[in-house]
Amino acid sequence: MCGIVGYVGKKQATPILLDALKRLEYRGYDSAGVAVLTDNGIEIHKTEGKISDLEAILPDIKGLCGIGHTRWATQGAPTTLNAHPHVSGNIAVVHNGIIENYQELYDELKGEGYEFVSETDTEVLAHLIHRYYKGNLVDAVIEGLKKVKGTYAAAFLCGDSEQMVAARKDSPLVAGLGKGENFVASDVTALLKYTRNVVYMHDFEIVSLSGENIQFFDFDGNPVKEHIESIEWNIEAAEKSGYPHFMLKEINEQVTSVHDTMMGRISELTGDVLLGEVKLPREEIRKLERIVIIACGTSYNAGLLGKYVFEALAGIHTDVDISSEFRYANPVLEDSTLVISISQSGETADTIAATKEAKTYGCRTLSITNVVGTTLSREVENIVYTRAGPEIGVAATKTFTSQLIALYLLAIHFARIRKKLDVDRSKRLLVSLKQLPGMIQQILNNKELIRKQAIRFSTARDYFFLGRSLNFPIALEGALKLKEISYIHAEGYAAGELKHGPLALISKDTPVVALATRASTYDKMLNNIKEVKARAAPVLAIAGMDDTEIEKYVDAVIRVPVTDELLYPVLISVVVQLLAYYTADALGCSIDKPRNLAKSVTVE
Ligand code: F6R
Repeated sequence: MCGIVGYVGKKQATPILLDALKRLEYRGYDSAGVAVLTDNGIEIHKTEGKISDLEAILPDIKGLCGIGHTRWATQGAPTTLNAHPHVSGNIAVVHNGIIENYQELYDELKGEGYEFVSETDTEVLAHLIHRYYKGNLVDAVIEGLKKVKGTYAAAFLCGDSEQMVAARKDSPLVAGLGKGENFVASDVTALLKYTRNVVYMHDFEIVSLSGENIQFFDFDGNPVKEHIESIEWNIEAAEKSGYPHFMLKEINEQVTSVHDTMMGRISELTGDVLLGEVKLPREEIRKLERIVIIACGTSYNAGLLGKYVFEALAGIHTDVDISSEFRYANPVLEDSTLVISISQSGETADTIAATKEAKTYGCRTLSITNVVGTTLSREVENIVYTRAGPEIGVAATKTFTSQLIALYLLAIHFARIRKKLDVDRSKRLLVSLKQLPGMIQQILNNKELIRKQAIRFSTARDYFFLGRSLNFPIALEGALKLKEISYIHAEGYAAGELKHGPLALISKDTPVVALATRASTYDKMLNNIKEVKARAAPVLAIAGMDDTEIEKYVDAVIRVPVTDELLYPVLISVVVQLLAYYTADALGCSIDKPRNLAKSVTVE
């Protein structure tokens, strides 16, 4: 996610940059840096660690114009060398986003003699702008960014003048207008202490700032007139982008995070998934006999979906185990087994220990994780980063859907190599994957309906979530979300299993959420709905928009857009997250910090 800031005006830039970076630390906190224009040119200081670590190493820098960065590593470990700003000659840059065509640009620039010192994709931006700089920074940024595919909010400084230039595409960027001073930042939170007059920049827009002037341009260099907004939020509300809780903010962020997990990893043209970070030789992927997934909590639920997709698409027998069980069992593992550990934080003690245990059997290892440079990432041979950005709410939301996307991508990747998935089906799946962010937005637009249903059932003492096949893991996840933030007892069940015991608990007082999107098991699901209706349970179905039948059998329906049968779990996840959120909100619970729980469980 990363946070960027920039200041130009009459005051010393460094203290303002540091203060603003502290406000953005929620966006990333593994390394940080500043570049300030001084009488001797651009001075750069950076370090791994938090903003306080940067503050500790900073000398007294004299300069009225500067840029700063707090990093959440996506490409390249969180080291001082990889920290921003990056430089090329007299150009410095800070960047939030991902350069998709990094390799192509790297090869081109390297061929021209540019030296690369870091492992980051951002360094190509510095060299690109340097390549095009002929005395006008705005022109150079336009020329350079026209070559870039990917996402960015970036701010540039040039040693020649007290001017700052910034631009955005698909990453947030806001310009702040002060008196004799101007700012840019990833988020208004960083600016509220200095100004409340801001411009939310649009994609493919560039801003040029000096102390007295601020001008916006499009990518053809034409001036753009921007609307100045006055922000009324206090700082606490601004940190959550105006949402009452981080969890709701993060649920809403899934439009972007799901997109970011896929970005640069899909070729619709060939029907292939591009996962260069998976170094397993193709021959080994062809010969894989078994996958074992290990994880805890929400990550375990994602793993259960992994089982369905690895088996259905790639034809690889897959087992899923809870890390804390796996490590004390006597697992039977061969060297033809791939062990996939899933962990948002990469610091869950049980998952790390289980991964270490698996390694002693000589298995191949791979991790799906959201945080770069963690203990888990140092244990495994292959890492697929979910790129969801930092998650503050204790209940995992956006990192869960990103784990699902990473699993789909891996399964398609393996399936293509093992010749289990023909090009046409693969292309169709990839197109459908790419449509998911738009569909998530549609669900979010409809959240009032979900809120009403949540309030309606919020006094229940017990809740059931039923699903079959691919929706079963989401039934477990829906129940887990509800339990952890609303403290209502909830059970997720494979719908066909209900009559083997838990049906005894069903009554008019136990709401049942039936995950009933179209699938080969749809008719069976309808039968299960009838079973619980016959015991007077109120049933809330989550179904596709094309389903005209379901409302005959249930009390209320929440609709999701129609997608490929395999991909409904992503859409349903958003609905069950909102359901849990609004229930907890109606009950006045501590949503972002539920009782007894921690974000990262680093003890056994
Ligand atoms: C639930 C939740 C936890 C985590 C679990 C594993 O919302 O967040 O169940 O999923 O503690 O954490 P990671 O994925 O960091 O290993």
